[in-house]
Amino acid sequence: MSKFKEISPEQVSNIFGLIGHDWMLITAAKDGAVNTMTASWGCAGILWNKPVAICFIRHSRYTFEFAEAADTMSLSFFGEEYRPALNLCGRVSGRDCDKFAEAGLTPAFYGDTPYIEEARLVFICRKLYADDIKEDNFIVKGLLANYPTRDFHRFYILEIKTALLRI
Ligand SMILES: Cc1cc2nc3c(=O)[nH]c(=O)nc-3n(C[C@H](O)[C@H](O)[C@H](O)COP(=O)(O)O)c2cc1C
Repeated sequence: MSKFKEISPEQVSNIFGLIGHDWMLITAAKDGAVNTMTASWGCAGILWNKPVAICFIRHSRYTFEFAEAADTMSLSFFGEEYRPALNLCGRVSGRDCDKFAEAGLTPAFYGDTPYIEEARLVFICRKLYADDIKEDNFIVKGLLANYPTRDFHRFYILEIKTALLRI
């Protein structure tokens, strides 16, 4: 943990670029195991007077089981040199292989919450609220093209409890 210093979430700039371009790893623990997956859809801001991030996980992901089981999870952001690792974590499932070994990533813990040691920025988060994207609620029906098999995301509104920046 000495490799990181705590910063205020408000010091984090360009959240659009961080999530949409850099991508992130969503990491959660269940029964002593840890899984992680790449995500490039999400957002962050203020809700209920708290700094929050919102991530979207399809029910079919192995990570979904971990996100459901845990009270906390983390969002980890990386330098460009980790793009191959993020591509791998977005292509293969933790059901089928040891993603950490294959991607050259190291799970670490901040309290009970797993994160990725190699990250340059980490949000340690607490789940506040979860719900599923629902077909009937789409106002722009064309967006349903994102769900050809109707494998809708569950979204998690997460309170950013701690933001850690690599020193
Ligand atoms: C760039 C990129 C972004 C992704 N974004 C998301 C996302 O926001 N939500 C999601 O459910 N899956 C997303 N995925 C797909 C998962 O990362 C992928 O299915 C992964 O293999 C799931 O791993 P798991 O089964 O171990 O959870 C993305 C994949 C890539 C490559």
